[in-house]
Order: sequence, then C-alpha cells, then structure tokens
Amino acid sequence: MPASKSVKLSTGAEMPTLGLGTWRSKPGEVERAVEHALKRGYRHIDTATGYANEKEVGLGIKASGVPREEIFLTTKLNNPDHTRVAAALQYSLAQLDTPYLDLWLMHWPAPMKDGGPDRSRDWRDTWRDMEAAFKANEGKVKAIGVSNFSVQYLRELLKFATVVPAVNQIEAHPSCMQEDIVEECRKHGIVVTAYSPLGSDGAPLREDPVVQKLAAQYGVAESNILVSLQANRPGVVVIPKSVTLSRIDENMKIVDLSEEDVKELTAIEKEKHLRVCKPYWTGWGNIGFPDLE
Ligand SMILES: NC(=O)c1ccc[n+]([C@@H]2O[C@H](COP(=O)([O-])OP(=O)(O)OC[C@H]3O[C@@H](n4cnc5c(N)ncnc54)[C@H](OP(=O)(O)O)[C@@H]3O)[C@@H](O)[C@H]2O)c1
Repeated sequence: MPASKSVKLSTGAEMPTLGLGTWRSKPGEVERAVEHALKRGYRHIDTATGYANEKEVGLGIKASGVPREEIFLTTKLNNPDHTRVAAALQYSLAQLDTPYLDLWLMHWPAPMKDGGPDRSRDWRDTWRDMEAAFKANEGKVKAIGVSNFSVQYLRELLKFATVVPAVNQIEAHPSCMQEDIVEECRKHGIVVTAYSPLGSDGAPLREDPVVQKLAAQYGVAESNILVSLQANRPGVVVIPKSVTLSRIDENMKIVDLSEEDVKELTAIEKEKHLRVCKPYWTGWGNIGFPDLE
C-alpha cells in the first residue's frame, strides 16, 4: 500500500510527504533499501550525484517492480558541476537509468573546483543554466529547485529567476527548525524538504528526553516523533534515511502531534542547537559563503 499523504508543488505535481533519504547509503546496501522501501509503500526517493549512488538507486527502483510513474525521484546538481549543468543532468539521467527526474535541485549555492570554492563561478549563473536545461529538456525534468538556501539566498534568487524553485531542501529537526526559511518558502509557494530529521548519522535526536517522553505518550518510536514533527508542518515533506529494513518500515508511521507537543519539541533548539550540514563541513570553508549559516 503506498503511503498516501502528499503536498502539491507549484507545477501541479504531487510530492509524497515521506521519502527515503540515501546520503551515506553505500553501493551494496542502497539498492536493497530502495527496493524494500518502494515495496513497502514509499513513493519518494531522494538521492544526489554527490552521494555517488545514483546507479544503485536506479537499480533499486527497477528491482521493486513499482512503475516509474508512481515514484517521485529527486536528485541534485553536484557542487563541482556548476559549470557543466547540461552535462550533469544527462549524467544523472543515465546513472539513474530513468527517462525523467521529478525534481532536480542545486545541491548547494556553492560552486566548487579542485576540492575548494570556485570563485570564478556565480551560483546565479548556475540557476540560469538550470532554468535553461529545464526548458530545453521538457519531459526529462519535471521540476527544478534548490537546497541549502537561506532566506537571503532565496530573496536574491527570486530577484532574477524566471522559474521559481519548486522546492528548497534544508536541514530541519527539533534542534534546527529553520522556521524563517520555511515561512519565506510558504510565501512564494515553495515546498520545503526537511533533511536530517533524526539529527543525521546515528539518529542522535532520539536520545532527547522530550522526544523520548512523547514517544512513550504516543506509543511510537522516537524516530516517529521526529519524522512526524516535520511531516506535520504545512508545506513540508521529510526524507529520513535508513539502510536497515526494519527502520525503513518503522519510519513510515506518522502521527498527528498536538500543538502543545509541537511547541515543546520546537523549544529544544533554544537549549540544544545542532546544525549537521555546515557549509564548511564539505571542505570549501565558509569564507565567501558567510550567510549560508
Ligand atoms: N540537501 C542536502 O544538503 C542534504 C544534506 C543531508 C541530508 N540530505 C538528505 O536527507 C536525508 C536524511 O538525512 P540524513 O541521512 O542526514 O539523516 P537522518 O535521516 O536524520 O538519519 C539517518 C541516520 O539515522 C539512522 N536511522 C534511521 N531510521 C532510524 C530508526 N528508526 N531508528 C534508529 N536509527 C535510525 C540511520 O541508520 P541506518 O541507515 O544504519 O539504519 C542513519 O544513521 C539524506 O539521506 C539525504 O537524502 C540532504
């Protein structure tokens, strides 16, 4: 049975509220995870050229037997590919062995070259090239969007964009809710994809006492509280990652949280802020991209 909830993109397409993340899902384990998730009812898979697993994700989709048109597939333009946008699109299509992408995101507004920032390239030109590739490849890319865009970057983008991004994919969990960005996206009809909803590797936010208390109260796992917190936000979809089959199943349960409980969860950040994916984390340094923080 497909998991049923979805949100509507500005293109009119439906994007399932729950998706499977695949960052750090290695070749050898990701194919099985994708196949299993789709067989169990997931209809949304998130990958990226930077995860070096598009080929295996594509194999998992095929192995599931779920028709391609029932699946919402996202991939992302890699930081070193800002200067070869059209070729990067063809590469992703070929790796995934798919006739089309449902969503193609600029992974970071941070062009890179030789492992460091590429200061000769302006991310605005990358968006212009993505728009051109989108228009030139009708049917092969159903929607384009961005990722890791702060309010400031979004506003800058909207000054010149001829295509408003359908989605902004950002980190979002109780220790980093980024409500300002979510609000800004809502104003412009941009859906937000919440990444690292469990706090990323090892799912550390399951240890939080508020999360544990609510898990007991609702009779669900801690991960369900964390995934539900994002899924309960209007205009937000969420992509927990797992390669463990039982956890892929577990993460499907989404509960309606009361307003009071949401307030308690969002207050966690005041005491315990956590930002997993910092710009300098990937090695380009935050010099030159200071407002990404
Ligand atoms: N756009 C971006 O820049 C960006 C950045 C980060 C992430 N993302 C996307 O968002 C996805 C999710 O984020 P994430 O991978 O950083 O972290 P996450 O989904 O918050 O957490 C993944 C970790 O939690 C574990 N886990 C999953 N379900 C669990 C459960 N029910 N109980 C206990 N542990 C559980 C996983 O372990 P096992 O796999 O071993 O089960 C893994 O170690 C990524 O995979 C990627 O697709 C995008």
